[in-house]
Amino acid sequence: MSMRLDKYLSQATGISRKDIRRLMRRDEISVNGEPAHDPALHVDPETDVVCLYDEPVGAPGPRYLMVFKPEGYVSASDDPTHPTVNSLVDLPRAEQLHCCGRLDIDATGLVLLTDDGQWSHRITSPRHKLAKRYRVRTADPIDATAVQAFEEGLKLHGELKRTRPAKLEILSAREAIVELAEGRYHQVKRMFAALGNRVLTLHRDRIGNIDLDPALEPGEYRFLTESEINSIFS
Ligand code: URA
Repeated sequence: MSMRLDKYLSQATGISRKDIRRLMRRDEISVNGEPAHDPALHVDPETDVVCLYDEPVGAPGPRYLMVFKPEGYVSASDDPTHPTVNSLVDLPRAEQLHCCGRLDIDATGLVLLTDDGQWSHRITSPRHKLAKRYRVRTADPIDATAVQAFEEGLKLHGELKRTRPAKLEILSAREAIVELAEGRYHQVKRMFAALGNRVLTLHRDRIGNIDLDPALEPGEYRFLTESEINSIFS
């Protein structure tokens, strides 16, 4: 999303637009290596490199990213013992990004990161019932009756309220796709446990209308497109 250079710089640095014009006259600001003198020049914070005193200026935010979480990483910005999803993001102020909902340390797939609290609330708040899709592999064969059990809701160990209706599509004896609009603690694993089965691998490939980009390898990330960002509100 492009924006005026002076607006971008003042948002990113807190320097007034008047002072930014002064810095431009002194050749202290460059865009993609060329001195910039036009405050109205349009820049794209995701692709243009804007420098002040030869130092790149971080994007003013908000920022929205998808990360392909590998196994062994925690969905947190800070952890004393395990590598974090944030550590995969090579951007200024990466520690200011937070995960929109967690994936277990042994799970893989789509994690959304942002510094926009309202946006992430739309994703995590149970009120908005945003669907999340998982591909699972189980220890034992999945009984055909599980489809109806998921649809009717299950009693999870230690909880009184049944789970909301969830979709289960059995792909093969030990593989299935699960679609949920809730995010209880270890929910998919506990739903299978309630049926006497065990999840061996869990991979999230969709949140709402946002699909994990098949071009991403585990550990890679990319910025969301504008339509992916806006899809959360539709
Ligand atoms: N369900 C789980 O059991 N684990 C996750 O990480 C997400 C959903």
